[in-house]
Amino acid sequence: MILKDERTDKMNNRPIGVFDSGLGGLNVLKELIKELPNEKYIYLGDTKRFPYGQKSQDAIIEIAKQNVDFLVKQGVKIIVIACGTVTSQAIEVLQKIYEVPIIGIIEPTVLNLRDRIDERDNTIGVIATKGTIRSCAWEKKISEYIPNAEIISVSAPLLATMAEEGWISNKVAEYTVREYMKMFKHVDKLILGCTHYPLFKELMRKELSNRIEIIDTGVELAKYLKKKISGFNLETSDSKTGEYELYLTDIDPTFATIATSILNENINIDEIKRLEV
Ligand code: DGL
Repeated sequence: MILKDERTDKMNNRPIGVFDSGLGGLNVLKELIKELPNEKYIYLGDTKRFPYGQKSQDAIIEIAKQNVDFLVKQGVKIIVIACGTVTSQAIEVLQKIYEVPIIGIIEPTVLNLRDRIDERDNTIGVIATKGTIRSCAWEKKISEYIPNAEIISVSAPLLATMAEEGWISNKVAEYTVREYMKMFKHVDKLILGCTHYPLFKELMRKELSNRIEIIDTGVELAKYLKKKISGFNLETSDSKTGEYELYLTDIDPTFATIATSILNENINIDEIKRLEV
């Protein structure tokens, strides 16, 4: 017989599911492990269907449902959409369909920002994929919580593809980032609305004055989830440290190399599992 507390423990010790179109979501996973080190994680990178950035909303919803179905089958207790493109165009649909709590990157970032923003520095830049910018999801959420903010949003379709190639610090990356940053010289905050973009943070910093806060949505989401997880009553009682399983829909050795540098531990290509889609 399983006693109630044991059952709660069992439920709460299930993993957290995290997904993205590729390796961008690892930037989120890294922050989750920092904030919630005792949790277990299952990460799905949909590399076969990367990039998501230019796809239609219908396609994004269809793909996102398949990703969530997979994670639900793995028995996850919470799903983190570690992707701006999916968050911006599919989160509301997904939250209506599934019982499992689903968290994206937009609301946590804007809520945290609202708590620390000053009226004098409320020009907010958003850089993201084409689909995210087209959806106006950041504008809507920012206007809802920070009504007097001025928003400048720009799409940067090249950056996610460059990140998947590992082109994050070469000359091409330097020039591309320089070009995109021209639009943000006068903002107070710059939200990296695509989870691949933190890989370019150093290059961005070189182009922007130090007074501009560059906001990594993975950092914001992880802080938010840390506060919320007890509210969901889903905190683990495990004391293992940040265990994770990696699944990809297509396996390219470059992924293992970049994952190694993001997660700061050796990721062997043979440890990555393949999900057929
Ligand atoms: N990392 C993703 C995002 O946050 C998607 C990049 C892409 O697949 O185009 O939007």
